[in-house]
Amino acid sequence: MPDRPPYYLTTPIYYVNARPHLGTAYSTIVTDTIARYKRAQGFDVFFLTGTDEHGQKIERSAKATNCTPQEFVDKVSEEFRALWKTLELTNDGFIRTTEPRHKQGVQRLFTLLKERGYIYKGTYTGQYCVSDEAWVDVGPGEPCPDCGRITETVTEENYFFKLSAFERKLLELYEEQPDFIRPETRRNEVLSFVRGGLRDLSISRPSFSWGIPFPGDEKHVIYVWMDALANYITALGWGSADDSKYQRFWADDRLRAEGAPLHIIGKEISRFHCVYWPAVLMAAGLPLPKSIFAHGWLLFDQNKMSKSRGNVVRAETIHDVLGNDALRYFLLREVVFGQDGNFTFDALVQRYNGDLANGYGNLVSRTLAMVRSVYAHSHTEGRPSEKSASPQRKAPASDLSRLVEEVIADTRRYFDNFEFSRGLERIWELVAATDGYLTRTTPWKLIKQQGTVLGPTPELDEILYNAVEAIRIITALVQPVIPEAAKTVWQQLGLGKINEFDAASLRWGQWNLGAELGPKIETPLFPRAEKDAVTRMKEIEENRPQSALEQALSSIPTVRVEPSATSPTSNAPTDKPAEKADTTAPEAGPKPLAVETPSTPATVSTPAAVPGQITIDDFTKVELRVAQVKVAERVPKADKLLRLEVDLGSETRQILAGIAESYEPESLIGRKVIVVANLAPRKMRGLESNGMLLAGSIEGGKAVLASFLEDVPLGAKVK
Ligand code: MSP
Repeated sequence: MPDRPPYYLTTPIYYVNARPHLGTAYSTIVTDTIARYKRAQGFDVFFLTGTDEHGQKIERSAKATNCTPQEFVDKVSEEFRALWKTLELTNDGFIRTTEPRHKQGVQRLFTLLKERGYIYKGTYTGQYCVSDEAWVDVGPGEPCPDCGRITETVTEENYFFKLSAFERKLLELYEEQPDFIRPETRRNEVLSFVRGGLRDLSISRPSFSWGIPFPGDEKHVIYVWMDALANYITALGWGSADDSKYQRFWADDRLRAEGAPLHIIGKEISRFHCVYWPAVLMAAGLPLPKSIFAHGWLLFDQNKMSKSRGNVVRAETIHDVLGNDALRYFLLREVVFGQDGNFTFDALVQRYNGDLANGYGNLVSRTLAMVRSVYAHSHTEGRPSEKSASPQRKAPASDLSRLVEEVIADTRRYFDNFEFSRGLERIWELVAATDGYLTRTTPWKLIKQQGTVLGPTPELDEILYNAVEAIRIITALVQPVIPEAAKTVWQQLGLGKINEFDAASLRWGQWNLGAELGPKIETPLFPRAEKDAVTRMKEIEENRPQSALEQALSSIPTVRVEPSATSPTSNAPTDKPAEKADTTAPEAGPKPLAVETPSTPATVSTPAAVPGQITIDDFTKVELRVAQVKVAERVPKADKLLRLEVDLGSETRQILAGIAESYEPESLIGRKVIVVANLAPRKMRGLESNGMLLAGSIEGGKAVLASFLEDVPLGAKVK
């Protein structure tokens, strides 16, 4: 067998301070889809996932559940493994950061960085939350984002990584390899973060023990993110006696020609993967990953699904009611990869019934039923005959085959670009076209005349050949997304094991004339979901008994978090700077609103305002709404301005805000803000601004954006 080219792809490794849920499953399912797609294209794939088990949060969670940290991480890590099994994910490796192979590798890596002169000892000054025993990423005097208590400015001796030495090299990397970070929005955020200047990174913690000891100074442990990022190579045996996997799946240059190694991550952890990780590898003299793709968030009720918000849906529920394929199809079809997407049970059932049960499932079952009835379990006589093919019959068939060829090419292009939603949309055009072809050619009329089933005719041969061939191709294309159904259909078509099929060679006309179908399967591929499916899933979610561990986990106090990108202004080593609670109270009251005094007289019921005051009617003229920042970037040659795109629930607007001196653009992504929604548009620096953000103004003219302590849906009126 010729040597298949290697392909390596990874998910983030999941924190074990929460059980897996649909949000975490999303990253893994998407990566699994890419892994299956690449395998079908002939690659020798290594797909890695795992769990991130060190750090103070884990130590605290263990304490809260009356376990030792090791007992705790063993249990939760096992839950991840078990769920991935239930979801039939095909990861080739599973790494845990508490495994000896990982610890050894990390220590090697840090020894190497020290030897190469990229690590030094220094002092770190930052904000420390005594109550939480954690560094927090806030300014002096600001409250702790976790517990809201006042933080202290503390100075501590730490090891530092010379991140600043890589500023130029990283910028060159992003420049030379535009695909290093995708999608474009994330690339822009990372670019502006690095362009803003890189400070050296504190990479050790002296004050707690649940981590990997710093080589040569065991009083310190390695900062959890540095420990975690190294998993991508320690899992391949880097730094161990047997590094053959590392050589094949990381060092081999053939990978890079194919866009690998590929890291699939959530958007909030872009900075760690696109800045720190390549810098560490550069410092160690090791090859870089080829591509990092940051996907969006799965939202539930318009908010990031996360344990801290308590708005999680369990993947098991969907698995139990509609099956794995339904979940995979929904996530890949409904959520545009790279953007946030909302999960609702209604939308899931709608997609399932519309596209799977009534669409693909129905097409397969009615076509195969006709083939079986005509050829009585064998397709041997079903040879299209040139002589009998009438022109009217041939024209639509050749339309279908042309469309098939186009769809094969388009789907490949879309899937290569990770545009799954568009690829699936295109494949379902083929499902609809095949349905339409059958409706036009009405083979059932040719099969049954006056109640009797007639044997094959050349005309029937041709119609059924075309329909079967279209189904075969649809199935091969859709296999990475709905593998269970594809496997069954492939067997029913008599084609054997779908994972042995070389999808790279897929073309119209490969169906073997007369080939025998596989044994009939009585159960429908996608039984139609009944009206109560949504209620059932909701009930399961509400009533599912919690395991002892779950109960313990849910009793751990968690913070209400705002979806927010990382805060690049500080390199402070927090356990999870990605999730920042939005409790940064404005230090001064909000600036008075710049509202023009209305010229209309006050109504009878509203007393006229005395000079300097406005009436309630005046105030209600100002339409204040909750919005979420989707895009934030600097405006060239305008030091103070940021260009934002904010989502008001029903529409997205561009707003120019004079907050560039107070906020790094990427720290705003996902943040909820209050917008003056009915402000007349105005132009600034040639760009139209449609609204204004509310902010407190503190000394020095800095702005502190107004926000909420509770969650508020997008578009909600503020009054
Ligand atoms: N442990 C770090 C990653 C270290 S990688 C070297 C971490 N873990 S996490 O458990 O918090 O998140 C892991 C992944 O799950 C992230 O990519 C994150 O985006 C993803 N998701 C968690 N909730 C999610 C949604 N609601 N939607 C989509 N992905 C989500 O960060």
